[in-house]
Amino acid sequence: MMQSIETEFTKAFNVRYPIIGAPMFLVSNEEMVIATSRAGGLGTFPALNFRPIERYAEALRKIKAEAGGPVGVNIIVQKQNKFQEKHLDLALEHGVDLIITSLGNPRDVIRRAHQTNTKVYCDVVNLDYAKKCADLGADGLIAVASGAGGHAGELSAFALIPYLKAHINLPVVAAGSIVDGKGMAAAFALGASAVYMGTRLIATTESPANQEYKEAIVHSGCEKIVNTDRVDGFPGNFIKTKSLEKIGLEMNFIEAVLSQSKRFRRGLALTRAARSLLAGDKSKVSYKNVFSAGHGVGLIHDVVPIAEVFRRTISEYYEIRQRLP
Ligand SMILES: Cc1cc2nc3c(=O)[nH]c(=O)nc-3n(C[C@H](O)[C@H](O)[C@H](O)COP(=O)(O)O)c2cc1C
Repeated sequence: MMQSIETEFTKAFNVRYPIIGAPMFLVSNEEMVIATSRAGGLGTFPALNFRPIERYAEALRKIKAEAGGPVGVNIIVQKQNKFQEKHLDLALEHGVDLIITSLGNPRDVIRRAHQTNTKVYCDVVNLDYAKKCADLGADGLIAVASGAGGHAGELSAFALIPYLKAHINLPVVAAGSIVDGKGMAAAFALGASAVYMGTRLIATTESPANQEYKEAIVHSGCEKIVNTDRVDGFPGNFIKTKSLEKIGLEMNFIEAVLSQSKRFRRGLALTRAARSLLAGDKSKVSYKNVFSAGHGVGLIHDVVPIAEVFRRTISEYYEIRQRLP
């Protein structure tokens, strides 16, 4: 095994490497989480990936038994997520090490997790929200920068990470376009104590993404990523494929006029979110035929096991440390 890397994050979770396998809707499965933790990182998954709730409990049991290291669960803390309380109950019951909150207010999750040994990191895209999470007692922040897969932030990692570090005394995880040792070294230079890897882990042998999705990642340049709210109503990064072009990347004229009303915008967002979550393979809009990914796609050239992604990342990181001016 390669030399470990010690940061505030690795000490807090007792892991060899400061790499979190990012939670990805419809992608992160048991195999990916287990492989990430076994490779020396911390594997996570969105609680919503396992439905009904009995499937989620079963996944937690399997992952805790086989990961051999710490694991995390991502919980959407928005009112629309009717399962959030059950997701939290079961995560705490199974002793997950980390809960990552996205959207909404993480107050209850932090309060309840802190009655146990579970830590809570919150997804943040700006300083205001990060301060709220810190005031509520979050243990760390995930700085979701522009260029991330999924619902990316708008700020560059070069600004967001040092900005958060200058104002808030919490460990920060860098998220967005990190696929190798270069990204990891840069993230540490900016003040991060761990990195998130999403898109890189979709193109792995353990990932359940279909062949078309993996190939789109391997063959796309960075310029192929477009930011659009057409898929689920919230701006997200997607690979510009024929399926994505079919749903139209721009708002049509009527939507543009109506969207000046806040109520309409919200209704539209919720309709699109529901449509993309529930749609089958043949539907025009579904997470199954449009592919979310970050700007890092241009740096990914093959499908390899997760352990190999780790090996390359760590060895490149140590190599870069020698070469830096
Ligand atoms: C297909 C896909 C699905 C995602 N689903 C979620 C999710 O359910 N919850 C969440 O907090 N983040 C989600 N994300 C965002 C990732 O957790 C992470 O922030 C992002 O992938 C990091 O950027 P990268 O892909 O450039 O590494 C998703 C990202 C992708 C690519």
